[in-house]
Amino acid sequence: MATFAALTSLFGVETSDVDLSRPLSHAAFRELEQAFYAHQVLAVRGQDITPAQFVDFARRFGPPQPHVIDQFHHPEDPNILILSNVKKDGRPTGLQDAGSYFHTDYSYLQVPARATTLYSRVVPRVGGDTLFANQLAAYDDLSEAMKKRIEPLLAIHHYGNRNDVDEASRTAASVLSAEQKARMPVITHRIARAHPVTGRKALYAVSGSSFGIVGMPDDEARDLLDELAAHATQPRYQLRFKYGVGDIVVWDNAALLHSATLTDPQDPRTLWRITMLEVAQEAAAPEVLAPTYA
Ligand code: SIN
Repeated sequence: MATFAALTSLFGVETSDVDLSRPLSHAAFRELEQAFYAHQVLAVRGQDITPAQFVDFARRFGPPQPHVIDQFHHPEDPNILILSNVKKDGRPTGLQDAGSYFHTDYSYLQVPARATTLYSRVVPRVGGDTLFANQLAAYDDLSEAMKKRIEPLLAIHHYGNRNDVDEASRTAASVLSAEQKARMPVITHRIARAHPVTGRKALYAVSGSSFGIVGMPDDEARDLLDELAAHATQPRYQLRFKYGVGDIVVWDNAALLHSATLTDPQDPRTLWRITMLEVAQEAAAPEVLAPTYA
């Protein structure tokens, strides 16, 4: 039996009792999975594992979906995206400044991400934390009038950061090539979304890839999304996760927003990332809109 310690009084747990370089029994994984769904952020400290072992662990939460930014896939397994500010021979070894704004992974896809896991390889001297914001608690705290207002609403999503579309900015979404943009759909998700496993309602991706609301004028939709995002990212809903080398964190994208924090580009930071999809039950529900990318 692993022991878990709370990361905050609201959510998040960590354990140092697991060695993912050894086979993990069904019962031992169930314990981790239950902690993940109960606490939304699960940290497994101090691992030393291979790319294949990392992918095997991730796959137990759901099917990995390689990131659209394929130039930074790990050479041994495309399910791993390398996040790094390290350059070799003047060339980037990974994706730098990924997700430096509150967002939910793959909310721009019809079947979004269930979970994302990061495996910390190189920790900067200063900072490099990941912020999480609990969208279950943020939803619970809405007024009854606001809950009623958003209940029928579908947000329109596409790849990007609604609050920063300047591709030169460090807090914009990572820049896609024309070919990668052409692969990105425009889709909808409920703003008040029932968690696909636990059924608990959460605010879903009110920051990040949500650019509008079906049937609502653009300015009104943006105002409402901005109001919800300001509410949902208040410090009282946040957890700041600090990495040690070898730490693995897994988070629940249906229950959280998260954001990377900007670091000194000269201060090395490298993590491996895998994102796992929700099961296909969500796929048929949301309306599909015509792509706007050329
Ligand atoms: C991400 O959003 O995938 C990156 C998070 C981080 O680098 O802290």
